[in-house]
Amino acid sequence: MESTRNKLIHLLEENKDTYISGQFLSDKLNISRSAIWKHMKELQKDGYEIEGIPKKGYRIVGFPDRLSENALQWGLKTDWLGKTIIHKEVVTSTQHIAHQIAQENTEHGTVIIADEQTNGKGRMNRHWYSSRDKGIWLSIILRPSILPYLAPQLTLLSACVLADVISQQSELIPKIKWPNDILVDGKKIAGILTEMQAEQDQIQYVVIGIGINVNHNHNDLPSDIQAKASSILMETNRNWDIKHFIQQILVTFEKEYNEYIEHGFTHVKKKWESYSFKIGEPIRISTLKSQWTAIFSGIAEDGALLVRNNDGTTEKLYSAEIDW
Ligand code: BTN
Repeated sequence: MESTRNKLIHLLEENKDTYISGQFLSDKLNISRSAIWKHMKELQKDGYEIEGIPKKGYRIVGFPDRLSENALQWGLKTDWLGKTIIHKEVVTSTQHIAHQIAQENTEHGTVIIADEQTNGKGRMNRHWYSSRDKGIWLSIILRPSILPYLAPQLTLLSACVLADVISQQSELIPKIKWPNDILVDGKKIAGILTEMQAEQDQIQYVVIGIGINVNHNHNDLPSDIQAKASSILMETNRNWDIKHFIQQILVTFEKEYNEYIEHGFTHVKKKWESYSFKIGEPIRISTLKSQWTAIFSGIAEDGALLVRNNDGTTEKLYSAEIDW
């Protein structure tokens, strides 16, 4: 059940353009006016900026810098994405929590965000390094009405969203390495892990896991990834507001997802190819069975990698590692 404190924050947020009287709050929350006053003092101590004017009442004018459900929802301009946000300081992996709660009929668009992950998951069962307060570690639960074989399109859509937001916010020029790595100057700054629960012809839910290295300095990254990974701070030489970045991701994601559900994959495919790394160039491909070099010619309608082999044939690949 929602705590009195959270209900109070919601009431202040809903009425942020006006003052609300202590009496109104006390009637709504069924607590005394002096209890309201004590709550306000506690909120101010926690970094909430609240104006209290005699005879007028209270008004919230700012949220603390630290991530919290309320702070993330404050000013978030989405219709359905992030209507429920679950924020935790430390988790093993936001993917684990997302799977747990998705089994319990959690609504489409629920977002799980952590300040730190102790066992972050990357693709191919790799570990995803997710240190405290340095990056964006979040998972989105979706219940799309598309066929399961089309779910990889959502990974490509998510990669376009990250590339759009990173370029708009930071003016960096991100590139996408198939299927989901976001690179700046050849170094990885973000990744996406899509996991799904489905029957033969119906998706129960999809979890899109997004990890972005935001405010890491070189030495904040483990030495084994320092040569190939970077962060937005390292590429721009400035600190970034993580809360604002998350909100931009949610707004852009919702817009792109709505467009995709309404009009299909064509728009995503075009955008993805415009961000694509090494398109039209030779790449090295590794699958479980073999390794070879081919020309990267684009992506197929179902999100598969399209390569042109030396013998002139075009091949569609669903699972491979690419390099150059
Ligand atoms: C990759 O590039 O290999 C994918 C990395 C995905 C990392 C994110 S961080 C939030 C979510 N929780 C996880 O444990 N993994 C994803």
